[in-house]
Amino acid sequence: MFARLNLSPLRILDTYQSFSARKAVCIQLFITTYNYVNSTFGVYQTFIDLPLLADTPSRIRMAAQRQGLRMNKLNTLEAGKVWLVGAGPGDPELLTIKAARLIAAADALVYDHLVGAGIMDMARADARLIYAGKEASKHTLPQDSINDLLVKLAREGLSVVRLKGGDPFIFGRGGEELETLVASGIPFEVVPGVTAAAGCAAYAGFPLTHRDHAQSVTFVTGHLKDGTVNLDWPALARSRQTVVFYMGIGAAEEICRQMISHGLPSMTPAAVIRNGTQSEQKTLLATLGTLPHRIAESAITPPALIVVGSVVSLHEKLSWFEKP
Ligand SMILES: C[S@@+](CC[C@H](N)C(=O)[O-])C[C@H]1O[C@@H](n2cnc3c(N)ncnc32)[C@H](O)[C@@H]1O
Repeated sequence: MFARLNLSPLRILDTYQSFSARKAVCIQLFITTYNYVNSTFGVYQTFIDLPLLADTPSRIRMAAQRQGLRMNKLNTLEAGKVWLVGAGPGDPELLTIKAARLIAAADALVYDHLVGAGIMDMARADARLIYAGKEASKHTLPQDSINDLLVKLAREGLSVVRLKGGDPFIFGRGGEELETLVASGIPFEVVPGVTAAAGCAAYAGFPLTHRDHAQSVTFVTGHLKDGTVNLDWPALARSRQTVVFYMGIGAAEEICRQMISHGLPSMTPAAVIRNGTQSEQKTLLATLGTLPHRIAESAITPPALIVVGSVVSLHEKLSWFEKP
């Protein structure tokens, strides 16, 4: 820049006699240099980002910076608005960059028990963190209270992140929460997340579809209602597909019985993945005929998925995450 002007900073100062004139020139030179460097290298961006991103896991931070994404929008999140955000299946690195940015910026976060360890540490130190629970059969806050809480926090003028495990629109009751927001006139956005089936299957080495094994995949809830799993069993028991049961551990016996009685061979590969994508991930391999017994003997508890279909047999070849 100075070469272009054919002047060195010191030569410019020589031409001014008084101290105040020299001071003014120094300030002007600093501003000009700063603006030039800033526009060329984005230094201003780095100064602003680094302290604000200090709490964010470094790999997310680096990924965001590589993409040129700003994660320092603390002052730009709109007040009185709710973001319904998917936190993914557990591994914090499976968060989207948008989710990480919103978590780091929100005034208040209402989160479920399936939000992976370490993710809440990304919230601002002064953010309001409210645990909404929702473990099977021990809901900390009833759904209506959660809906009302979101409205209340937004009406207080806070930017609110409603954080759910996996994807908020897959067995997450995200739609119900949004309906309440719409009825109350609260603005919102939705940020999808990696759903448990996609995350757990990837980390267990089961491609959910595969040309030689399954042309479709179905996600179903295995949650018992009135003691029965009321599902379209003839459709689920068709061959050449993968079926993933969420919340199915308590109903595993009924699920396997129905799949076999609707036509699938009892030798059909089946598996359970518990705590998928996390260091404690455990994959149990079985068949439809043996799965209930394997679950009982290994005392597996939720959160876990049941995967049924011949893609499960690929685990032996494609497993990469779990140590044997
Ligand atoms: C209420 S559903 C929420 C699903 C979530 N919205 C999603 O998209 O993954 C909770 C169920 O998801 C499954 N799940 C969620 N995270 C899991 C994980 N890390 N490992 C295994 N299963 C998981 C379990 O079946 C659990 O009971």
